[in-house]
Order: sequence, then structure tokens, then C-alpha cells
Amino acid sequence: MSDKKTGILLLSHGSRLDDGEEVIKAYKEMYIKEYPDAIVEYGFMEIRKPGISETVEKLKQQGDLEKIIVVPVFIAHGLHTKRDIPGLLGIESDFDGEESSGHHHHHHGHHDHGHHHHHHHDHEDEKVDFDGEIILTDPLGIDKRVFEVIKDRVSEYL
Ligand code: NI
Repeated sequence: MSDKKTGILLLSHGSRLDDGEEVIKAYKEMYIKEYPDAIVEYGFMEIRKPGISETVEKLKQQGDLEKIIVVPVFIAHGLHTKRDIPGLLGIESDFDGEESSGHHHHHHGHHDHGHHHHHHHDHEDEKVDFDGEIILTDPLGIDKRVFEVIKDRVSEYL
């Protein structure tokens, strides 16, 4: 679950409020407690720092990495995990749907056609600089362990 050639990026959405950082930071600390040699950092896809490229830099400072595993700590796939995060990471996306017109914050300038550049480089100020392999895992998804948490939340009030 850890080696010195692999960085682990726990990726949260990002919020102006602190709650999300407290959660993702706690998961990072839990990971390191269980795997003290792991190279693991948390970051945010938008709104909050550190962003993805900044977090990749933090990982690179901790080892001669050949691989970075990015875990989107999201409950399910969506436009962010299918399109936006691959874009920010500069990796291939299997997203082939229509561009969303109703997403809650289109502040990245996806449609700035005034610049002539590849679509992976839309976020030039945030571009990830990594020569190794970048793997984007599935989000948390359908899992009995998550269902246990849902049941706990309900049972607190029954
Ligand atoms: Ni968003």
C-alpha cells in the first residue's frame, strides 16, 4: 500500500469553508498512520489551495516518483472526475459527453477560444509537471462500508 516510487494524491473538490479540508486532511493522516512510509498528500481540484499541480510538487519533493495515484474522494463519477480532473492532470479522459451548460461553477475558462492551445492545457497556471505515470482511480462509489456510514447517520436520529 506504499512504496517510495509512488505518490498518492487524495483529491477533494475544494470549498471556501474549512470542513472539507479537515476531512481530507484526516484521511491523509490516517493513511500515514497505517503506512508510515507512504508519500501522500491531499489537494483540491478548485476553489481551495493547494491545487492539483501544487500538490504534485509537494509529492515530488518527497521521493523520486515514477507514479502518482490520484484518488478522487468523491462519492460518484461526474463531470469533475470524468472531464475536469483528467484535464487538470493532463491525462486522457474517456469523457465523450456534451459540455455541461449548468455546472455550478464554470470559472476555469474552458471556452476561452482566444488562446490557441490543446484542451489539456486549459489551466496553464495549474498545469501538472510530472514525467511519470499518473493514475486516476474511481471515486468511492457503491460500497457497503459507505452504506454503513449512511445507516449510522440515520440511526443517530431514530
Ligand atoms: Ni465543482
